[in-house]
Amino acid sequence: MPKDLILESTTLWDCPTQNYGDRPHGNNKYNGVTPAFVIWNLLQRYTKEGDLVVDPMCGSGTTIDVANELNRKVIGYDLNIVRPDVIKNDSRKIPLQDNSVDFVFIDSPYSDNIKYSDDEKCVGKISCEDEKFYDELEKTVSEIARILKPNKTMGWVIADQWIKRKFTPTGFLMWQRLEKYFEPIDIVCLTRHNQTSNTGVWHNRARQFNFYLRGFKYLFIMRKPSRS
Ligand SMILES: C[S@@+](CC[C@H](N)C(=O)[O-])C[C@H]1O[C@@H](n2cnc3c(N)ncnc32)[C@H](O)[C@@H]1O
Repeated sequence: MPKDLILESTTLWDCPTQNYGDRPHGNNKYNGVTPAFVIWNLLQRYTKEGDLVVDPMCGSGTTIDVANELNRKVIGYDLNIVRPDVIKNDSRKIPLQDNSVDFVFIDSPYSDNIKYSDDEKCVGKISCEDEKFYDELEKTVSEIARILKPNKTMGWVIADQWIKRKFTPTGFLMWQRLEKYFEPIDIVCLTRHNQTSNTGVWHNRARQFNFYLRGFKYLFIMRKPSRS
């Protein structure tokens, strides 16, 4: 990693609150919104001013806001358009040239647990218990590998699922797809504060039905190999 990038950041997860600064980043009311500090930390460490950052599933535009604030160029796509600077596009085919992007961030659906839109192309309509979920997301993985410049980094957020008495290790299954295209840099555990399951009702349910409350998401940080 170039020296100047190390000097720009201190520790990776050093932003004091999930919503730093006094300007909004994305929209907290958007289902499945990404905490801005996650993107802030990644951009501080892996990009510099003027770099091009892409988010293929940018939802309420958190990546766009953080990147703009840090003077990075940014393109945000989604199927569900909630603001004018998001470009409508299916992440399985990204309209950018090979080896043209400096950093990609993506917080994908984790399963069919959240309704994002009525668009039939939304991957969030497929259960993570179905192999098709990973097959469809792998098409996005391959597009990210194509558009990223060699040796550049991407961050992917995803979580496991426990539903109807069945656990699905969505994170590990997704990791298996990702490592076909990328080299690992790190796996970071994003602990969930303010989550709705951290209540007495959910604690009782967890005891009654013998499951663990899911208190974290994965952040996979990976690099495109220099040879591809
Ligand atoms: C977890 S949300 C992303 C939240 C976003 N990072 C934010 O902070 O607002 C996942 C997003 O993936 C989008 N999505 C699902 N399938 C997609 C596809 N095939 N192409 C593009 N976007 C898709 C959904 O519309 C949703 O906005």
